[in-house]
Amino acid sequence: MKVLIEAVGVSKYYPVETGGFLRRSTRSLRAVDTVSLSVNESETLGLVGESGCGKSTLGRLLIRLLPATGGTIRFADADITALQGKALRDVRRSMQIVFQDPYGALNPRMTVEDIVAEPLAIHGDTANLSTRVTEILSHVGLPARARERFPHEFSGGQRQRIGIARALILRPKFVVCDEPVSALDVSVQAQIVNLLQDLQGEFGLTYLFIAHDLGVVKHISTRVAVMYLGKIVEVAPKATLYATPKHPYTAGLIASVPVTHPSQRAKSRAERRRLTGDIPSALDPPSGCRFHTRCPMARALCGEAEPATRELAPGHLVACHFAE
Ligand SMILES: Nc1ncnc2c1ncn2[C@@H]1O[C@H](COP(=O)(O)OP(=O)(O)OP(=O)(O)O)[C@@H](O)[C@H]1O
Ligand code: SF4
Ligand SMILES: [Mg+2]
Repeated sequence: MKVLIEAVGVSKYYPVETGGFLRRSTRSLRAVDTVSLSVNESETLGLVGESGCGKSTLGRLLIRLLPATGGTIRFADADITALQGKALRDVRRSMQIVFQDPYGALNPRMTVEDIVAEPLAIHGDTANLSTRVTEILSHVGLPARARERFPHEFSGGQRQRIGIARALILRPKFVVCDEPVSALDVSVQAQIVNLLQDLQGEFGLTYLFIAHDLGVVKHISTRVAVMYLGKIVEVAPKATLYATPKHPYTAGLIASVPVTHPSQRAKSRAERRRLTGDIPSALDPPSGCRFHTRCPMARALCGEAEPATRELAPGHLVACHFAE
């Protein structure tokens, strides 16, 4: 297994204005806090966690859409943390993003051809533009005549196909799929997930696939990383993570995946581990283990010392004092 992209101790702090008119001050919101994570070539790494835990920020840091406050980002063995100008543009060709909202992400006044071809135009790579647009549209299951139409003429699923075509036209190696199906009807979600999987095979893509519940990434992921309040708390191969989660937060997330069959629901032992309580503010995260205010297993040590990330089994990383 070869690592394609890697974050080493990466952080992103956002300056946030707090206080009223008289006592205004600027504080740091630690959206991503010293995170180390790698994505292997040709795999899909699922990234899961509740809203606001920093998933999108981490995805954008990896592809240099956002500058990091600290840490190192490596892509294909090169340090890309500080690249600027042409060198940054060059590496960015290889790293693209598919957004959650297929309505908001597409400019309503541009034709599909202009939307899909825009990355080519930005990179000054306009030879055979129309042919390449038609070709990528057919890969995502859209007819050539879609080129002259506008986004509002398409359904949500078709719009997401347009977003995917736009992300793939530069033939990237790494794609961040930032909740690409969360805004779609359940009936359409599987079609888009299957399409992304087919395209991964055809184009040799590596994915970071972001979702807020473990149900969505179960099908597509090779490994899964779980994030809580700016920290990665557990990473494991998919089967291991779902069968034997070692972090209480992961167990809570699994218990929170909706169970469709009532008989299963009654039996579910995991039910009792379901997540409760509010997510603390990232502006003022809890001391020690950030999960201690909601953790059913918390003991005194948890509020005092931050748990180190330990490798409990090959490839199974957990940040919990009592993971055993
Ligand atoms: N530009 C910004 N300025 C200040 N705070 C921000 C900014 N962008 C994000 N945040 C904050 O950083 C934290 C992480 O946000 P992020 O969007 O990365 O989370 P997320 O896990 O993707 O959430 P969601 O599931 O809602 O998409 C949140 O507390 C959010 O409010
Ligand atoms: S370190 Fe303590 S609070 Fe944190 S997850 Fe483990 S048991 Fe729970
Ligand atoms: Mg997000």
